[in-house]
Amino acid sequence: MADYDYDVLVIGAGPGGYVAAIRAAQLGLKTACAEGRETLGGTCLNVGCIPSKAMLHASEYFEQAASGAMTKLGVKVTPELDLEAMHGQRRDSVKGLTGGIEFLFKKNKIDWLKGYAQFRDAHTVEVAGKSVTAKNIVIATGSSVTPLPGVEIDNDKGVVVDSTGALELASVPKKMVVIGGGVIGLELGSVWRRLGAEVTVVEFLDQLLPGMDGEVRKEAGKLFKKQGMTLKLGTKVTGVEVKGKKAKVTVEPAAGGDAEVIEADAVLVSIGRRPNTEGLGLDKIGLELNQRGQIETDHDFATKVDGVWAIGDVIPGPMLAHKAEDEGIAVAENIAGLTGIVNHDVIPGVVYTFPEIAGVGLTEEAAKERGAVKVGKFPMLANSRAKTNHEPDGFVKVIADAETDRVLGVWCIASVAGTMIAQAAQAMEFGATSEDIAYTCHAHPTHSEAIKEAAMAVTGKPIHI
Ligand code: FAD
Ligand code: NAI
Repeated sequence: MADYDYDVLVIGAGPGGYVAAIRAAQLGLKTACAEGRETLGGTCLNVGCIPSKAMLHASEYFEQAASGAMTKLGVKVTPELDLEAMHGQRRDSVKGLTGGIEFLFKKNKIDWLKGYAQFRDAHTVEVAGKSVTAKNIVIATGSSVTPLPGVEIDNDKGVVVDSTGALELASVPKKMVVIGGGVIGLELGSVWRRLGAEVTVVEFLDQLLPGMDGEVRKEAGKLFKKQGMTLKLGTKVTGVEVKGKKAKVTVEPAAGGDAEVIEADAVLVSIGRRPNTEGLGLDKIGLELNQRGQIETDHDFATKVDGVWAIGDVIPGPMLAHKAEDEGIAVAENIAGLTGIVNHDVIPGVVYTFPEIAGVGLTEEAAKERGAVKVGKFPMLANSRAKTNHEPDGFVKVIADAETDRVLGVWCIASVAGTMIAQAAQAMEFGATSEDIAYTCHAHPTHSEAIKEAAMAVTGKPIHI
């Protein structure tokens, strides 16, 4: 058998890649990870999940103070925005967490190969001018922003920006246009709206948040409007003209009609992300991409090329950090000869706005396509904790198979929906019925009781409504 420098070489140190590397090392495999960025952690830790949550958390406090919500609780404050300090705490969080991964690499004796890797053959990559060989190579190169044809992103100038630029704006734009009413647009649009921007979201489809449950999408639209966002649904951007520090965004109805110009101080392009495969040299190993530019794998995350595996945003499925992490663990276990599995039917998704929006499993629409369902709903208004905390917006919805009662999907809009959805995911992973959830004792008073009551509503007997 050929001698290799490593048992496992992972390309990319995002949540997929760094987790794969750590698990491989834990399993006794000699492991290296190539990363071209100056810090480990990938999109998620550097410019994604973590910095966006740092800004969401801080801006929520600002809005609570500025909107008078705290005064209502008997806490009088006169808030003043210190945006530089807000950015500072964001940078500190990123620094702490990316440094933490570097520590974990050292602890697990993983070699960080600094630079972008390119395949020479299926067992050899070149990183920073050096050839490195490995018995197994895991592609975990992630994704980057999908550009909008004809619209140039310039994060340094800070007028037309992508999510990375929108995290870094040096001042609060008076008017902001968000192109794309998906997860990034709503999270980062919320940050700047809370800090004082007039935000207009231009969405091509007739509802926000494609892929989520229809009722949830409708309710989300209502709530964001109530918060002061202007929503232009069923609308497309046909051009963005930048003059100095101002932009003019031309939009028209997606179905055709009169054009309109919206002026803005900042424009966020957030119309999706695409897999990073350019420059990897996949042609050298004969690995082809699917129509969406993704690398296809089998259930074990093996590609068609022997010894080459792929995980995370670069393969099909939701582009989410926890999906990438679980695939990272599974691929390392499969390489080590164990059985690594990810249940792609139970991957929760959370939008970290206020309230949070979360779901796991099938939407009601998708579930109905598969057969008869029973649906139970419970409004947060009737949940004692949400009501006491003055957080009445939202609802929980449990979708169960009409015949077997097995839970097929759970959807929540609630202040802490992201935390609540974990129990739904766990229940579904264990094959729970709605009755199982309804008869599980939930602590009182908690928002999670709304999940219990929605489960009770599946068979028509919630207590508090
Ligand atoms: P990535 O994190 O993209 O990491 C890939 C790494 O590979 C990068 O560091 C890149 O530099 C490196 N790389 C690429 N090519 C090479 C090469 N040839 N050689 C060496 N290195 C290479 N998901 C959530 O679940 N929750 C959230 O709250 C959330 N918030 C987000 C907010 C924003 C603004 C964005 C943009 C994304 C967010 N996501 C969130 C999505 C999440 O960041 C991704 O799903 C996740 O990072 C994917 O992990 P990954 O390991 O596949 O790839
Ligand atoms: P997205 O796919 O969530 O939303 C993009 C939106 O843009 C869609 O609603 C789409 O219909 C719309 N759109 C596409 N082209 C358009 C056009 N020309 N004009 C107007 N609208 C247009 O993508 P987004 O928000 O860029 O996020 C990318 C990925 O990052 C997502 O897949 C998401 O999973 C991940 N992410 C996850 C987060 C989380 O888990 N909380 C937070 C942020 C990102």
